[in-house]
Amino acid sequence: MRMYDLIMKKRNGGVLSPEEIRFMICHYTAGQIPDYQMSAMMMAIYFQGMNEEETLNLTMEMAKSGEMLDLSSIHGIKVDKHSTGGVGDKTSLALGPMVAACGIPVAKMSGRGLGHTGGTIDKLESFPGFSTSIDTEHFIRQVNDIGIAIMGQTKDLAPADKKLYALRDVTATVDNMSLIASSIMSKKLASGADAIVLDVKTGSGAFMKAEEDAFALAGEMVRIGNGAGRHTTAVVSDMDQPLGFAVGNALEVREAIDTLNGKGPEDFVELCLTLGAEMVVAGGRASSQAEARNMLMEKIEDGSALKKLAEFVEAQGGDSSYVYEPEKLPVAAMIKEVKAEKSGWISHIDCDEVGICSLILGGGRETKESDIDLSVGLVLAKKAGDTVQTGDVLVRLYGNDENKLCEAAERYIKACHIGDEPTAPHKFIKGIIRE
Ligand code: URA
Repeated sequence: MRMYDLIMKKRNGGVLSPEEIRFMICHYTAGQIPDYQMSAMMMAIYFQGMNEEETLNLTMEMAKSGEMLDLSSIHGIKVDKHSTGGVGDKTSLALGPMVAACGIPVAKMSGRGLGHTGGTIDKLESFPGFSTSIDTEHFIRQVNDIGIAIMGQTKDLAPADKKLYALRDVTATVDNMSLIASSIMSKKLASGADAIVLDVKTGSGAFMKAEEDAFALAGEMVRIGNGAGRHTTAVVSDMDQPLGFAVGNALEVREAIDTLNGKGPEDFVELCLTLGAEMVVAGGRASSQAEARNMLMEKIEDGSALKKLAEFVEAQGGDSSYVYEPEKLPVAAMIKEVKAEKSGWISHIDCDEVGICSLILGGGRETKESDIDLSVGLVLAKKAGDTVQTGDVLVRLYGNDENKLCEAAERYIKACHIGDEPTAPHKFIKGIIRE
C-alpha cells in the first residue's frame, strides 16, 4: 500500500477501507509517513469528508495507536464525562463527587488547560499538595476504595491523535466534523470507560459557535461511541456567556464547593443535574433521569457529595480542610469592580472576551510552558437578561497587577452589552442526543 494512492483516492472522493485507514494511522504514528503527505490527506478529508464507517474506523485506529486503559478491575459500570470546553467550566469538580456519591465509579483522565483558564488538573492544584501524578495501579485502587480518582493524561494516550491534532492546527484542517469527532472520541475510548456522557457547548465561548454545528458534532460523537460499543449520550448546552459566575482557577473551585453546599448558580446546578442524571442512568443506578436527579440532589442536601470531594482531595495528597474552609484558597491581592456606564438590560456578554480577560489577569496559559496564577480571575455580578442601573457592579476582577486589572476592565466593559429592551431568557440546555 502507498500513501500516495490513498491521498489520490480521497482527493477524488473515494471511501477509505478499514485496512487503508489502519495502514495510514499505524505508519504515521511510527514516523513512516511524512507530515507533508499526512497534511495532504487531512486537506483531502477536509474537502471530501468521511462517511460514518470511515469516521468510526479512524477513531478506533487512533484510540488503538497507544495504550488502551483497562479498567475492568474496577467494580461497576465506569461512566466518563467529556466537555468540549468553555469559559468558567468547572463541571468535573462538582459533578465527579456528586456522581461518585451515588455509587458510580468515577475514573477520569484530565488535562491541563491551554487558554483562558487552567484545566481540571490546574484547578485541583488550588488544594495544596494535590497531585494527579499517580500511576494506573494507584488510580484503580483509589476508585475501588473511595469511588473517585483523577489522573493526568498519560503520554501514551492516543498518540496518533496527538500528532495529527498538532498537524491539523498548523494546516487549517481542524474544523472538520469527522476529524474533530474522531479526535475527541479516540481519547475517550482509550481512557477505558464503559459509558460516555458528552457535554457539547455552543455559543460565543464555545468551539462550536453555531447551534446546528454543535448538534451535528454531538450526533457524530454519539454514533462513534455507540458504534464502538460504549453507551454514549450527549447534552448540548449554552456557552454564550460564562457558566456560573466565576472564571479563574481557585475562584471556580470555590464556586464548585458552594454548589456542593447547595448554594450553586442556577445554570451550573442545572448542568450538573442534567449531565449527572445521564451518568447515573448509564451507570445503572437509576431507571429514569427524574429518579437520578432526585438522587443527585439528595447527595448535595445530605452533605455526602461534599464529603466525597474531601475524601478525593485527601486521597490524592491534598489538604481537605480547604473543602470545608474555602476562604483558605488562594485569593488575589486586588479586586477591581467594573461598573455599568448606562442603565438597561444585559443583552449579551461576549464569552470569548471574558476568557481573554481571565488570560490577561494571569489565569490561563498562552503557551504550554506558561505559568498559571491560581488566585486571579473574575466573578460576574450580572448575567444576560439582568437589569442594571448606571453605576451597578457588572463584574469583580481579581488580580495581582494594577496594569493588567485596568486592561481587563477596559476589555470587559466592551464585552458586556447593555440594551434598552428586556432580553428573552437563554435556553440553557439546548437538547440531549441519546442514540
Ligand atoms: N478537541 C480535540 O481534542 N480535538 C479536536 O480536533 C478539536 C477539539
